[in-house]
Amino acid sequence: MITFIFLLFLFFTNPISPASIPDRFTKSLSPSFPKHKSREYFELSLPLPTNYLTPSCTLQILRHSFANTINSPPFTTPYSPPSNCSLPWSHIVLEFRAKCKGEQYDRISGLWLGGVELLRTSTAQPTQCGIFWKVRKDVTRYYSVLLQSNLNLTMMLENIVNREYTGVYHVEVAFYYYKDVVVNDKNDGVSLPFIVGNKNSGGKLGLETEKFERNLGVGAEEPADLILPISDTGDKGFWYRIESETAMRFKEIRIPKNTRRVVLEFYVSFHGNDEFWYLNPPNSYVTVNNITTGRANGAYREVFVTVDGQLAGSEVPFPVVFTGGINPLFWEPVVAIGAFNLPTYDLELTPFLGTLLDGKAHQIGIGVADGISYWLVDANLHLWLDHNSHSVEAKSKVNLNPVFRIERGSVFRQLDGSFKIKAERVCNSIGWVKWSAGNYTTTFLQSYKFNNLIRFQKNGTYKLVKQKVKANRQVKFENQVGQVIASRSVKRKYPLSVSTATLPGSRKNTYLLLTNVSHSMNEKYSNGGSKIHVHNSQDSVGWMEVRDHSVLSGKAKTKQNFMYRDKLNCYSRSVNAGDGKLLSDNATFHCLDLFAL
Ligand SMILES: *[C@@H]1O[C@H](CO)[C@@H](O)[C@H](O)[C@H]1NC(C)=O
Ligand SMILES: *[C@@H]1O[C@H](CO)[C@@H](O)[C@H](O)[C@H]1NC(C)=O
Ligand SMILES: *[C@@H]1O[C@H](CO)[C@@H](O)[C@H](O)[C@H]1NC(C)=O
Ligand SMILES: *[C@@H]1O[C@H](CO)[C@@H](O)[C@H](O)[C@H]1NC(C)=O
Ligand SMILES: *[C@@H]1O[C@H](CO)[C@@H](O)[C@H](O)[C@H]1NC(C)=O
Ligand SMILES: *[C@@H]1O[C@H](CO)[C@@H](O)[C@H](O)[C@H]1NC(C)=O
Ligand SMILES: *[C@@H]1O[C@H](CO)[C@@H](O)[C@H](O)[C@H]1NC(C)=O
Repeated sequence: MITFIFLLFLFFTNPISPASIPDRFTKSLSPSFPKHKSREYFELSLPLPTNYLTPSCTLQILRHSFANTINSPPFTTPYSPPSNCSLPWSHIVLEFRAKCKGEQYDRISGLWLGGVELLRTSTAQPTQCGIFWKVRKDVTRYYSVLLQSNLNLTMMLENIVNREYTGVYHVEVAFYYYKDVVVNDKNDGVSLPFIVGNKNSGGKLGLETEKFERNLGVGAEEPADLILPISDTGDKGFWYRIESETAMRFKEIRIPKNTRRVVLEFYVSFHGNDEFWYLNPPNSYVTVNNITTGRANGAYREVFVTVDGQLAGSEVPFPVVFTGGINPLFWEPVVAIGAFNLPTYDLELTPFLGTLLDGKAHQIGIGVADGISYWLVDANLHLWLDHNSHSVEAKSKVNLNPVFRIERGSVFRQLDGSFKIKAERVCNSIGWVKWSAGNYTTTFLQSYKFNNLIRFQKNGTYKLVKQKVKANRQVKFENQVGQVIASRSVKRKYPLSVSTATLPGSRKNTYLLLTNVSHSMNEKYSNGGSKIHVHNSQDSVGWMEVRDHSVLSGKAKTKQNFMYRDKLNCYSRSVNAGDGKLLSDNATFHCLDLFAL
């Protein structure tokens, strides 16, 4: 009788091959995986110029082991900048180091200073022999917060440790404060990458991207004077947990009357049934086929921000794959694009100053269109003030000629079929601000195109997903006679393709998943005459044998190409990884004419 019930249970909970539904896995510590000594994991990214310099001050601020921290409040430690670290700092870098050993899922983590988010990161899945990694992020754009004393640095990392999941995440966080460097001209031959060290440039250190990253959209401006967190109370981390489309979150804010510019930066990550939102079939497919999964609601998501109920901007987020996602063997030792330093998104809200400047409270809202449980979202509102006046004057014309179209196509018979979604959005706003430097009109143009195709074949055991996102953003400043004084744009393309075939496994209750994943992030920045091009792509091929959520064995290969180019500098790095090892790793700062600007 017991056996009978067990079989029934299996039958009803698993009426469909697992390939149809995306999932997350852990690497089981089965002896079939080779043993290595503790290994370093990394995310391939542009090296920071400060990597090559000695900081003038260092603050080791956090050292904590995250064991069974599920449902616990975050870890909090007091922050004050180092007392004898004289100002000004040219750069501030946050360094996050972690190590872990055992079996464990990937976990999401956030770091906040005074409620302002500084880093969203996910952990690498450990091995029996241990792994470690380091994330360095330039946090200069949070200067005004890092300058303050008696704040709390808060870190959330919910982990489960029990007999099965043994991995404890040991984390250390430090801040490094740098001064402007003067590069020694006589030091020929040893040229440090990215240091524009001639006399004309005053020995300033810098990459074009830094300026953009600090202030995506209109760059080249100093960090904001004030940052207001658009975030939760902090008892469970400062992020808002968004469980559904209707569960928007709001924050009342009041901004100084001399605010002359506003940029909202949001952080986002997706989890639970929406961890792989871009692979989720529509509800009709799941219902008709009696599939027991919450991973549905179609494959379209959009994070949007409102000001007093009006749409201020939105973004289809880049689909970051965490280290347990799709096939965990793909992401060792090189993790997926963005996994250690999730991208953030900037929206220019200066055109809204006309409504925000009345000294009254206003409501900033954040939501996820089509979202299901759950999303972790919050934002930082960067404000620049007019230091020569107590109030400025502004007027807004927002949401001019908004466009939103979405088409969904769905054809299926039993477990086979295809689903298409095509969406497009255009969002414009314009406003002038008259402050002590003059009367400037800001125009913010935002648009994106989204395409997603999901196809199931072979009775649902073969699945192909192709997604394309193209997002453009432009900010333009004009003076009172209509001359454009600054114009910046960012164009991003992030295609993704995932194909999975499911076959019966060689052992009891196991199955094989053969999966290919390709994704990339292409970015083109333009700032007046100067341009930057960044291309980052990963291609993974492999298989794994799985029981429940445990990977018992498998083979995987990932190759990644990263290229950066600006007016003066180039960087490229290619890596090949296979079965947990780095097979080749070539990097150069030479401009190889690999791709044009
Ligand atoms: C298709 O898959 C379902 C669920 O796994 C199974 O019940 C059915 O027998 C399969 N049909 C064929 C023709 O293989
Ligand atoms: C700051 O003070 C500490 C302890 O007094 C000292 O160890 C450190 O070297 C000083 N740093 C600087 C930049 O002077
Ligand atoms: C910092 O956190 C402690 C306890 O975790 C709390 O008592 C204190 O009020 C916090 N300080 C600030 C400035 O938020
Ligand atoms: C789904 O369940 C319903 C009701 O239990 C049943 O009538 C239908 O045949 C099932 N469909 C499939 C594809 O198993
Ligand atoms: C600022 O400039 C805009 C556009 O040129 C103009 O419409 C507005 O009247 C000006 N505001 C003031 C206070 O001069
Ligand atoms: C993965 O790609 C290889 C060729 O690169 C191809 O032979 C294989 O069929 C693909 N697998 C899947 C599941 O699409
Ligand atoms: C990497 O560099 C090595 C030696 O410099 C070279 O032999 C190899 O072909 C390069 N590999 C790639 C993929 O460029």
